[in-house]
Amino acid sequence: MARTAIVTGGGSGLGREISLGLAHAGYGIVVVDRDESAAHACASSIGEHGLSAQALRADVRVPEDVTGIVAAAQRLGGPHVLVNNAGGWTPQRQYPQAEAAEWAATINLNLIAPMLLSQHVLGPMREQGGGAIINIASSGGIGFEPYGSPEYGAAKAGLIRFTASLAGLASSHGVRMMCVAPDWIGLSRAHAQWERMSAPERSASRPLIPPADVVAVILELLRTGSGGTVVEMWGGDQPIVHSP
Ligand SMILES: NC(=O)c1ccc[n+]([C@@H]2O[C@H](COP(=O)([O-])OP(=O)(O)OC[C@H]3O[C@@H](n4cnc5c(N)ncnc54)[C@H](O)[C@@H]3O)[C@@H](O)[C@H]2O)c1
Repeated sequence: MARTAIVTGGGSGLGREISLGLAHAGYGIVVVDRDESAAHACASSIGEHGLSAQALRADVRVPEDVTGIVAAAQRLGGPHVLVNNAGGWTPQRQYPQAEAAEWAATINLNLIAPMLLSQHVLGPMREQGGGAIINIASSGGIGFEPYGSPEYGAAKAGLIRFTASLAGLASSHGVRMMCVAPDWIGLSRAHAQWERMSAPERSASRPLIPPADVVAVILELLRTGSGGTVVEMWGGDQPIVHSP
């Protein structure tokens, strides 16, 4: 039976690229997205390549949905891999202009939800012989300079520290938890934004990271990475690997 991978936020953006990349690497994918049509569209494209995927509408912040995500993967004989990819900035306003409920929602999506889903997959992964979890953080969670979304930066910094803290899951549960922290990725939205930038703004920016490079790092971590590893990705440079 094919190994099963859950990809959250798998319907569009980076999650779609990860879903397709893992499907091509032989995983059966549970494409989880709160946008049902995006999840279905991604699962259909995977199916068109003769590969296996199931769409699941779920919100990773809702505990009942989290239970449903794990159950869906268990019905397929997994989960063997979890990619905690769903994430993003608070729309419109950032801390301190944002109300507490708004910035708390960003921390919930980018930190609490990956913690919750990871906790729910640990038992099933251990029972079926082990597994791997990839947390998608961001370069926004690294560094000491001012940053435009403090709540997003804090949540992603937390996700990085969370991952490194849990290197021991490899021995206690047979689960390698690892993290990728990319800078700006060359998804279609980023390319459109890049086009709108002035020449000086562009030359002051690092090149966009090809999404395929992020997928390649994830696949390499799944093959050979050790639990607690964090990989920084900066446009135009080689990935920086922090192993425990
Ligand atoms: N785009 C970048 O340049 C970049 C850079 C560094 C890190 N990241 C991280 O990569 C991940 C993906 O980013 P993206 O740019 O592809 O995002 P995106 O907004 O383009 O796509 C996110 C997907 O997740 C889904 N989603 C959002 N909230 C959800 C929820 N609560 N439950 C289930 N699904 C949900 C959305 O419907 C969407 O399909 C995020 O964690 C982001 O922080 C992105």
